[in-house]
Amino acid sequence: MSHQPINILAIESSCDDTAAAVLQNGVILSNVVAGQKVHEQYGGVVPELASRAHQQNIVPVVDVALQQAGIAKAQLQAIAFTAGPGLIGSLMVGVSFAKSMAMALNIPLIDVNHMQAHVLAHFIDDPKPKFPFLCLTVSGGHTMITVMKDHFTGEIIGHTTDDAAGEAFDKAAKILGLPYPGGPLIDKYANDGNPRAFIFPKPNIPDLNYSFSGLKTAYLYFVQNHVKENPDFVQENLPDICASIQYSIIDHLMKKLILASEQTGIKQIALAGGVSANSGLRETLKTEGEKRNWEVFIPAFEYCTDNAAMIAMAGYFKFLKGDFANQTISPYAR
Ligand code: KG4
Ligand code: ZN
Repeated sequence: MSHQPINILAIESSCDDTAAAVLQNGVILSNVVAGQKVHEQYGGVVPELASRAHQQNIVPVVDVALQQAGIAKAQLQAIAFTAGPGLIGSLMVGVSFAKSMAMALNIPLIDVNHMQAHVLAHFIDDPKPKFPFLCLTVSGGHTMITVMKDHFTGEIIGHTTDDAAGEAFDKAAKILGLPYPGGPLIDKYANDGNPRAFIFPKPNIPDLNYSFSGLKTAYLYFVQNHVKENPDFVQENLPDICASIQYSIIDHLMKKLILASEQTGIKQIALAGGVSANSGLRETLKTEGEKRNWEVFIPAFEYCTDNAAMIAMAGYFKFLKGDFANQTISPYAR
């Protein structure tokens, strides 16, 4: 009997990054992402423009991913793709492409949930968390604490009741006149600022849930009032403003995560999603983790923000279970 390697091509197109990756037997061989600069000037992702950019990028991105992996189309065993959640027009491009290619190659399709994939990014590199572990997933659209029981079973024990953490970062940046996505810029300027220069009210929300809307409003009025008095306030205080709002967001994220660990007794703590790229959050989690005897898991930068390697990893686990998609599949309803 021949032991053919399992080669999976994965495609991610849920928001504004067109991504493709190739995995062989659980190891990532290539991971390619094409971002979309077109949204910068609009202060957020414009869905119509995102779909069009995916349509232009998808063929070259897949070609480069296969080339870098040194894998020919004929060597693929399956195609994994993000079926949701995400922008419908963006998802449609990836789903249709995956279906056509799987049909042409006569190989199975694997539908992947984008949020599950963010968590499964932890199984790309060592050390890998063991079940059960707590995962704080913080992205542009989601903020939640999950007890992960196995690769595909997670119990959500806390979630945001309004904005996501990434949204809070992006809105804070927009108020300062910074382009989209503002999260990475807040992170960059915060490095040179004093996190306690300006104090914002702490969100008051019960249980393990999050709320960022009150903080956002307080911050908006704070900026507006200071600019009224001094039009150069933002320019003169950019690092301190960024460091202070970043501190408030991280403090809120950490408080509930600490509570979740205390309540569940789980000390393996993982971070996932785009905001896990934030240097302040990564540092704070490491320091708090040392204090509390946690085993902390933080993905490599390239696996934090949207990427297809995590889709490939999730696809691989589904492949091993024989869990394939039907040819009639369309993007998840939500
Ligand atoms: O996971 P992701 O790439 O896409 C979604 O699934 O939403 O997350 C994108 C979010 C954006 O809000 C972006 O501003 C934020 O992650 N983000 C950051 C950083 N890098 C990305 N936020 C704060 N600091 C960063 N370094
Ligand atoms: Zn994401």
